[in-house]
Amino acid sequence: MKQVLTPVQIGRLVAPNRVVMAPMTRSRASDDGVAGDMTVAYYAQRASAGLIITEGVFPSAMGKGYVHTPGIETEVQVAAWKKVTEAVHARGGRIFMQLMHCGRVSHPSLLNGAIPVAPSAIKPEGQAWTPVGQVDFVTPRELSLEEIAGVIDDYRQATRRAIEAGFDGVELHAASGYLPEQFLSSGSNQRQDLYGGSVENRARFVLDVLDAMAAEAGADRVGIKISPEMNYNSISDAAPQETYTYLVDKLKSWGLAYLHVALFGSPKVDYHALLRSQFEGAYLIGRGLTQEAAETLLKEDKADATVFGAPFLANPDLPERFRVGAELNAPDRTTFFAPPTAKGYIDYPALVPAEVD
Ligand SMILES: Cc1cc2nc3c(=O)[nH]c(=O)nc-3n(C[C@H](O)[C@H](O)[C@H](O)COP(=O)(O)O)c2cc1C
Repeated sequence: MKQVLTPVQIGRLVAPNRVVMAPMTRSRASDDGVAGDMTVAYYAQRASAGLIITEGVFPSAMGKGYVHTPGIETEVQVAAWKKVTEAVHARGGRIFMQLMHCGRVSHPSLLNGAIPVAPSAIKPEGQAWTPVGQVDFVTPRELSLEEIAGVIDDYRQATRRAIEAGFDGVELHAASGYLPEQFLSSGSNQRQDLYGGSVENRARFVLDVLDAMAAEAGADRVGIKISPEMNYNSISDAAPQETYTYLVDKLKSWGLAYLHVALFGSPKVDYHALLRSQFEGAYLIGRGLTQEAAETLLKEDKADATVFGAPFLANPDLPERFRVGAELNAPDRTTFFAPPTAKGYIDYPALVPAEVD
């Protein structure tokens, strides 16, 4: 019977448990997108996860969408990530990098003055987190076909660098209203070329990007995160069930490591039932889970692994706490995204204090 603390195959690797750490932006990198030593400690503390998925990392500078987020474009950024993967592996862990291109959900002040890019020039509602605080999103610039090929190549090169930096794999962030979902969704994609219009065309960008990532890493080291019907970052789609069943049907036999699905609110469709039966790789469910809820999902074979965000952020030894039934530290929301400070980042206590290197 599946249980959270039993091993599971996720693509090429075997995770010792089914407690996956969710990708979480923490905004602690330098202005140049370089992860610092605190980030090494943060992930190393959480190495007992079945699998760590890093915070969203921009594949190229135009993909940055939040202040103090890290990248994987320059040699300095790669060298910083190498320290993270070495520290996690030294503690027996496994770690994927999440590639996150924010597209239109960014701001010129984060892009050296450049206008954010998108499938279509449609301004999202809401505000960007910039070096000078929160400011309204702007109308993005529509990518040309040639530029789309360039962005796909950016993901390919970012994947190569992530593997070079020692990551066990890469996850495409195709959820939460960022660039891949902007292409997928009819509300943000009103192109009339190969990348817009029909569901086949709207899904093409995600498929092309995954194809490029799989060509670099091997499909069994590539995962994808989606969030059908999530009303976030001004995203909307006229027929999400059709969009996501088409996408997952296309992907089902690619041999991808996993499909990671985070549902928000009360979607009209039971996407987990629908998509899990379509997909052949590991199926990961996250969002609002407790240990009990995760055990139920696994027992009922609704998922292969379960993903924890805020609980993992606040409990570096979450699998051990599940094992002994310990109380959980409460997450402190005021320090989720903070200027580079240790508070709320690497100072959450473990049951047994970690040895200091
Ligand atoms: C501080 C914070 C930052 C997040 N940043 C990201 C991110 O960079 N990429 C992503 O895919 N999801 C991000 N998420 C969403 C989480 O991956 C996860 O889906 C969400 O927290 C729900 O899981 P939970 O209820 O266990 O926290 C973030 C969540 C939190 C709390």
